[in-house]
Amino acid sequence: GSTLDTAAAESNRYFGTAIAVSRLSSDSTYSTIAAREFNMVTAENEMKMDATEPNQGQFNYSSGDRLVSWARQNGMQVRGHALAWHSQQPGWMQNMSGTALRNAMLNHVTQVATHFKGQIYAWDVVNEAFADGSSGARRDSNLQRTGNDWIEAAFRAARAADPNAKLCYNDYNTDNWNHAKTQAVYNMVKDFKARGVPIDCVGFQAHFNSGNPVPSNYHTTLQNFADLGVDVQITELDIEGSGSSQADQYKGVIQACMAVSRCTGVTVWGVRDSDSWRASGTPLLFDSYGNKKAAYTSVLGQLNSG
Ligand code: G3I
Repeated sequence: GSTLDTAAAESNRYFGTAIAVSRLSSDSTYSTIAAREFNMVTAENEMKMDATEPNQGQFNYSSGDRLVSWARQNGMQVRGHALAWHSQQPGWMQNMSGTALRNAMLNHVTQVATHFKGQIYAWDVVNEAFADGSSGARRDSNLQRTGNDWIEAAFRAARAADPNAKLCYNDYNTDNWNHAKTQAVYNMVKDFKARGVPIDCVGFQAHFNSGNPVPSNYHTTLQNFADLGVDVQITELDIEGSGSSQADQYKGVIQACMAVSRCTGVTVWGVRDSDSWRASGTPLLFDSYGNKKAAYTSVLGQLNSG
């Protein structure tokens, strides 16, 4: 294939990007590259809790719907991001607790998954629920304080609302097999599978930089999760750096995914360097003018080798 999506499709994988919906209509360089290179899109912000339920019980799907219809017009699928998260909660939710918060969260999951029913390939049902560092514990948050079962409750609500969407748990710094956070997420997924809690996939955000490099055991991590009976997906890939060093690291990530049959696709977290959430740096596959970088060529070559 001569584009990322067609090359990935040769091994039955998708290649996706995060999309800032406002740029689709305001920036033709952006929308042209996005339509040409990718066959999966994730709303960078527009399907999050604060965007979709700005006031309790009042839902706003306008930007999310725009992305879904743009994706359909361009023959793409959509990853939904994210139904329940400690961050980017609407103001009304941030100070809620207990049963009221639990019910508000479950209602949010149900309403949003129902609205987009049938249009989402996979939902990040719960995002970033584990703590960083060596504890292996859940992250403290208002949602966690409603009870340790909040995650499985969210997954059950999502399954009931949209039975055909794959349901993912999504997190960062879970790439290195030896990290406590990786082990903790693994144990949760293992427990969910053992008890029949509906979970279909695990998303690895894969935000890499010099302090958090692509681990040499990445393939092991992805394979071990897949062996639990879930798909694995690289969901928010970006890698700080430039030139051949960055290109080699990108290649390593694609190689690790392609070596695992249940690694179903890769999404990069933005189109051009200038679109990245990172305040500085050049972490993506296209430069700010929309030119293909060495990292692009390396990813395309690796996809075509499979
Ligand atoms: O839209 C407002 C704008 O009106 C306002 O003038 C401006 C001033 O700050 O803020 C704009 O909103 C910002 C929004 O991005 C859109 O640009 C928010 O402040 C900013 O917080 C938000 O950042 C997003 C971040 O998640 C928030 O947590 C990034 O775009 C987005 O890339 C990032 O994505 C996360 C994933 O969801 C989860 N994993 C980590 C990843 C990177 O942080």
